[in-house]
Amino acid sequence: MKIEKLDYEGRGITHQNGKVCFVKNALPNEEIEATLVKETKRFSVYETTKIVKESKMRKSSFCPYRALCGGCTFDIVSYENSLKLKKEMLTDLFKQNQIIFEEFEIEKSPKDLGYRNKISLKIQNGAFGYFKEETHAFVKIQNCFLADDSIQNFLKDFSLLHVKEGNLTIKVNTNKELLLIIESKEKPKIEKSLIEKHKIAGIIWNQKCVYNSPFLFIRINHLLYKVHAESFFQVNYAIASKISEEILKYFRKDDTVFDLYCGVGYFSLQIASKVKQVLGIELNQKAIINANYNASLNQISNVSFHVGKVEETLRKIPIKASKVIVDPPRSGLHKEVIKVLKEKRPEKIIYISCNPKTLVRDILALKDIYKIEKIKAYDMFPYTKHVECVCVLEFDKPL
Ligand SMILES: C[S@@+](CC[C@H](N)C(=O)[O-])C[C@H]1O[C@@H](n2cnc3c(N)ncnc32)[C@H](O)[C@@H]1O
Repeated sequence: MKIEKLDYEGRGITHQNGKVCFVKNALPNEEIEATLVKETKRFSVYETTKIVKESKMRKSSFCPYRALCGGCTFDIVSYENSLKLKKEMLTDLFKQNQIIFEEFEIEKSPKDLGYRNKISLKIQNGAFGYFKEETHAFVKIQNCFLADDSIQNFLKDFSLLHVKEGNLTIKVNTNKELLLIIESKEKPKIEKSLIEKHKIAGIIWNQKCVYNSPFLFIRINHLLYKVHAESFFQVNYAIASKISEEILKYFRKDDTVFDLYCGVGYFSLQIASKVKQVLGIELNQKAIINANYNASLNQISNVSFHVGKVEETLRKIPIKASKVIVDPPRSGLHKEVIKVLKEKRPEKIIYISCNPKTLVRDILALKDIYKIEKIKAYDMFPYTKHVECVCVLEFDKPL
């Protein structure tokens, strides 16, 4: 097979007998041999077995687990080339959907390795690892190069926890303190030496805090955030900071802003001093408790936060927003949210998306009254197939 280009998930695309084929582990212009892994009426999925003609971009991976793990897609090219490929993937996706706008940039991550402030591992027979992509096949690892250095160092001492089966999430803050979230039958051993060596700020075991505190304090730009173990936070601090700097340009002193899917208030608080007021909505009650706390912690008084599903809460709020930030999960905006946004018609919608496919779907649903002012991509997740986009939509029809 000859690979034509990549799809938006980083799989090679080729055609056979008029049918589209997606090929894993292949690069544009490569000639490969592959084995069929899935077939439907519309498309087939293949896995590369042999590279007959190699792309000039291809290089060996930094990761010894690449063949088994599947978490990284672009560890077989240089970081610069991975950015080029991600940009091409996005350009194609936008073009295919007739989403036309001026040239867009992809901002590189200041760190291409060691950028993840959170990893989630499986524990089996006293070893830790990941499940192979799209399967439940355990892949034992000893390190993950995407994780922050402090997490990588902690992994060297993992055995001291004495956990044989279960799940482990490790989070690190901007002060290099760790939070361990463990689900297991046996209680983890909490050794003083381990705690001190790795600056462990808290251990949560089966949803109970068994050491110190279930929070991390995270500093980004001029603000401090208290974040509960169960609350979401952006996984690449440096890119999160760049995104908030970018979106600040779109606000004025008289703006009333809704921050939908606000988490612990990350964007609400970053923009608060630039606008009249911000109102955040978020499903996770613990995140909203943090968001309210974070407002007082940073002496910010023009923000308020509401617990609830955006699709149920947004309509009930009697205030008119001039601008709306949305940062939904991968599933994108609920149909009802699109409907209410079209009724409320804010001047701008600043859409922060971790899934280009649902971003495109939602842009198309808003297209009759919103035009694209700008799209910028951010490499929040280097070497993986994932990419973050910020899309600024501007209201385009007079009332
Ligand atoms: C991608 S995160 C963004 C969080 C926040 N904007 C930030 O920067 O930290 C998505 C957030 O949406 C929340 N969420 C998911 N579904 C929701 C819904 N239907 N209504 C409200 N919040 C939801 C999640 O709990 C999560 O905090």
